[in-house]
Amino acid sequence: MNNPKTLCVAGASGLVGSNIVKAALAKGYRVNGTMRDAEDESKRPYLMALPGAAERLTLFSADTAQSDSFDAALEGADAVFIACFPPIYKGKDGTPAKDLDRQRGYDEIVKPVKEGCMNVFEAAARKNVKTVILCSSTSSTNPPEPVAVKTEENAVSDAEVQMNAGKFTAAEKIVMETAAKDFCDAHGMRLSIIIPTMMLGPVILPQHLEGDSHHLIVGLNKGEQVLHKETPAGSMSLSHIEDVAALFLAAYEKPDASGRYFAVYDSWPWRDLYAEFAKHAPASAMPQPLEGEPEEPTRFDFTRRDSLGVTMRDIPTTIAQMFDWLKTEPFSTRH
Ligand SMILES: NC(=O)c1ccc[n+]([C@@H]2O[C@H](COP(=O)([O-])OP(=O)(O)OC[C@H]3O[C@@H](n4cnc5c(N)ncnc54)[C@H](OP(=O)(O)O)[C@@H]3O)[C@@H](O)[C@H]2O)c1
Repeated sequence: MNNPKTLCVAGASGLVGSNIVKAALAKGYRVNGTMRDAEDESKRPYLMALPGAAERLTLFSADTAQSDSFDAALEGADAVFIACFPPIYKGKDGTPAKDLDRQRGYDEIVKPVKEGCMNVFEAAARKNVKTVILCSSTSSTNPPEPVAVKTEENAVSDAEVQMNAGKFTAAEKIVMETAAKDFCDAHGMRLSIIIPTMMLGPVILPQHLEGDSHHLIVGLNKGEQVLHKETPAGSMSLSHIEDVAALFLAAYEKPDASGRYFAVYDSWPWRDLYAEFAKHAPASAMPQPLEGEPEEPTRFDFTRRDSLGVTMRDIPTTIAQMFDWLKTEPFSTRH
C-alpha cells in the first residue's frame, strides 16, 4: 500500500515525532524525519527498525537554530509535522525558568522557541510546503479568566500574563502558536495545531521511557512511588500516544482541517487515575488516599477534536495497554 506522498516529520526521534513517523509509515507514506544528529546510534536503529522504514524512511540532521538545515528534509514533501520543540525548563546557565526575570525569561526560554519555529516555517515556505501540522501543548490553553468548558477557541493563554507571572515555559507555546499562525496567514499555508497533554502507550525509543509520563508508569510498575506520596486533589489530562499520532495524520489528510485541535481524551482526578493504576501496579506504588473529594477536573468540548474522525482509546484502556506493554519488558534484549 505504497503512498506516493512524502511527509516531513521534524523531531522524528521524539516521543511525539517517532509515533507520527510510525503512523505515517504504516499508512504507506514516504517519510523524511529530522533530528539533530541523524547518525546517532542510540536513536537511529529504533526508527529504522519500524515497519516500512527500510524502504521509506530517510533521516536527516537538522537543528532549529539553522533554517537551511531543514531544506533537504523538506525537499519534495507534501506536508511538515513539527514536533521538535520540547519545553525549555531552564535558562542558559541552568537557572530554573520560574526564577528568571522577565528579560531573561523571554530571551532564553520564549524567544529561542519562537525563532526556531520560524526557522522551520521559513524553510517550509522556501521549499513550497503548504501544509503544516504543529505540535503544541495544553500549557497554551490557560486563559487569564478560567472558562467552565474549554474549547480550542476560548482556551487561549495570554503570553504577557504568563510571562509576567514567570511562566515562561508555558508562554513559549502560545507565542509559538501565534507566530506560526501569522506566518501561515501571510504565506498561504494551511496550519493545524495539535494540542496534546500527558501521553501514554508503547514508545519507540527507550529514551522515551525516561520522560515524565512514562517514567511515572515505569516506576509504578516496579512498585515505586514516583510522583506522589499523597494523592493530589487535582486532575490530569491523558491520551494514548498512538491516538495523538492518528490525530496528526488526520489533520493532514482532511483537506479542510485547520486551526487548533485538542489531542486530549479526557481529564480525570488523580484519585481516579490512581484507582486505575492500582489495577496494574503493586500496592507499594500507590500514594496515600486523598482525604475528602477531588477538585473538579478540567472540562473540554471535543467537537473539533472529534471532527478529525479519530476514535480515541478511553483512559482505562490506555492505562491497561501501557502496563501490558511494559510487562513484555520492551527493549530488554537490546540492553
Ligand atoms: N511528552 C509529553 O508528555 C508532551 C505533553 C504535551 C505536549 N508535548 C509537546 O510535544 C512536542 C514534542 O515533545 P516530545 O515529548 O515528543 O519531545 P521529545 O521526546 O523531547 O522530542 C523532541 C524532538 O525534537 C528534536 N529536537 C530537540 N531539540 C532540537 C533542535 N534544537 N533542533 C532540531 N530538533 C530538535 C529531538 O531530536 P534530537 O534530540 O534527537 O536532536 C526530538 O526529535 C512539544 O511541543 C511538547 O511541548 C509533549
